[in-house]
Amino acid sequence: MDIDLQQLIAEIIENKSSHGVLVISQNYHIRYVNNSFRDRLNLSVGDNLLDYYGGIIKDINGRYTSLLIETMDTGKEYRNEVWGLKCLYDGQLHWFTVNTYINYNLVMGGRLAVASYVQIDRLKAYETKLQSQHVSIFQSFAKAIGMRDYYTMSHVIQVAQRMSELAVELDMSPEEVAMAYFVGLIHDVGKIGIPEKILNKSDSLTADEYETMKNHAKMGADIVREMQDFDEIADIILYHHERYDGTGYPAGLKGEEIPHYSRMLAICDAYDAMTSFRCYRQPVSTEQAIAEICKCAGSQFDPQMVTAFCNKIKYA
Ligand SMILES: [Fe+2]
Repeated sequence: MDIDLQQLIAEIIENKSSHGVLVISQNYHIRYVNNSFRDRLNLSVGDNLLDYYGGIIKDINGRYTSLLIETMDTGKEYRNEVWGLKCLYDGQLHWFTVNTYINYNLVMGGRLAVASYVQIDRLKAYETKLQSQHVSIFQSFAKAIGMRDYYTMSHVIQVAQRMSELAVELDMSPEEVAMAYFVGLIHDVGKIGIPEKILNKSDSLTADEYETMKNHAKMGADIVREMQDFDEIADIILYHHERYDGTGYPAGLKGEEIPHYSRMLAICDAYDAMTSFRCYRQPVSTEQAIAEICKCAGSQFDPQMVTAFCNKIKYA
């Protein structure tokens, strides 16, 4: 390749491409980062990539926190692996397809690991993290909810979004972030079985109507449990109205007896319900909703999750 062409390609990678390129040496120090990635992730040459992950090489499940560090340590190269990276500026998880390579370069000090990153759509990334038949089932349920009731449709989309943000804040893995999104999308599927006059009633529910409404948790779980491998998700739906102090429904589970995703749902669900417009009341402000959720930490909600959720909302 002639030298002008090499310079042109180098110039495109350095300044014009939206793709990220990162090169680390054996001690994980960054030897090269192109402009697009430097700005996006606030990384500079000389930084230790491990610091970006809080000094943690592997998570509690023994998985590497960084594909590039794994490639450096083990020599395993990745091709088109979908991966989430948390941006230090906005705290959001950005999704990429990642390729990693090992390279030996005596001039640059021996063994190098190189990664290229191409940003991809968040929903597409979530889909790759779960079994494809599960994703199509989630999407069918979400569609069914939308056909039944417009408010529930917009509510579950908002809850799904909050669930994925809370999962990132709780440092859950990319697969768990994807799962959080999808359980948010289907947690109210049981409302399909609630009569129209109760679901969209314009004033307060009577005691009997409230009891009927409460059935949506069990009905949702029953619908989902019909499918193979959906037992865990059915339990998450069943228990999303439990309270941390044991006074919720349907089983009165307490603290960590309540599934992790159900405890997350309780917070995201309440926040969206408070901040959404309904025909019988005005929405409350973000600050009022956060104050109410903080007030209920330890009674209605898991206190550690409340801290993470409120941090996320306050600094968003
Ligand atoms: Fe619900």
